[in-house]
Amino acid sequence: MSFSILGTGHAVPERVVTNDELSHMVDTNDEWISSRTGIRERRVMTTESLTDLSVAAAKNALENAGVTPQELDLIICATIQGDYLSPAEACLIQKELGASCPAFDVNGACSGFVYALDVADGYFARGRVKKVLVVASEALSRVTDWSDRRTCVLFGDGSGAVVLGEGDDLLSLRLTTTGNDQVLYVPAFRGKSPFDQTVKECGDYIYMNGQEVYRFAVNSMFRELKASIEEAGLTLDQVDYLLPHQANLRIIDTAVQKLKIPREKVGVTIQKYGNTSSSSVAILLDEMNREGKLHPGDILAIAAFGGGLTTGACVIRWSR
Ligand code: UT7
Repeated sequence: MSFSILGTGHAVPERVVTNDELSHMVDTNDEWISSRTGIRERRVMTTESLTDLSVAAAKNALENAGVTPQELDLIICATIQGDYLSPAEACLIQKELGASCPAFDVNGACSGFVYALDVADGYFARGRVKKVLVVASEALSRVTDWSDRRTCVLFGDGSGAVVLGEGDDLLSLRLTTTGNDQVLYVPAFRGKSPFDQTVKECGDYIYMNGQEVYRFAVNSMFRELKASIEEAGLTLDQVDYLLPHQANLRIIDTAVQKLKIPREKVGVTIQKYGNTSSSSVAILLDEMNREGKLHPGDILAIAAFGGGLTTGACVIRWSR
């Protein structure tokens, strides 16, 4: 026993920040950002908390699934950092929804949504749950150095959610980790212990060696997609939609060319939202669902990669 997706939802902040607006803050321009990344604008939190977005996405997904919060047996939130380090973001979602089930967070960085799906799959396999809410929520605007043009143009905030029920629609799922804190990291809050003698000079904000991560992303997306489709016992031409992590349109295009997947089968939202880390694939899934693109029996291939370094890929049959 694994799971089926019963419903999807998403929420993004109201505030739109365009490339032109950023060009007044740092030495950049729309031409550079859109040609190098595909991003035209992103959403950034102003008056919203991450919990506001998470709960809105969760409510959308529950409504879409026809499931009440009281029916939930588990809530998992994928995030690198919720509104608090503790309580977990999932606990705040549980409270606001009025649910009564266990709730915890999973940190798989940009691959976190797939990591959370894998955790959920284990609960279904052990017969411990009948309905699970998975939310992927990120507030990267809080960890971005808005004076650093190499990173501040890339990221956005958002939340995506799915409600899972018993079923057999997860056809394969693969996770990989290559431990690395050199090419992509977000420093932790370290406090001011008078006993701490370690020196860690890693700044206060997200750091990324873009070219190194780019190479990792292109290779891993190609390799993991191919492997997960094979593990599902399918061939590439049987995939109806590819849902890639939205980090850079050039990364998506390169992987798609290597795999020889027709462009119309590939979901893209990066132009509107930038890179929203773990929530990017969940938001994309909800948009495709609400646009009526997905039909019962469709085969969806999801591929994500990011800090860790992590990858997460899976193949899911859409059966709603
Ligand atoms: O979700 C987590 C995973 N993250 C990713 O997958 C990101 C992977 N990496 C990338 O997407 C790309 O490497 C970036 C979009 C981050 C950068 O694109 P790039 O084509 O690799 O550019 P680059 O780092 O090689 O920089 C080229 C030039 C540099 O100038 P010089 O040294 O050639 O004079 C940069 O200083 O572009 C400059 N530059 C900018 N110029 C205008 C860097 N950022 C900007 C900017 N505006 N915002």
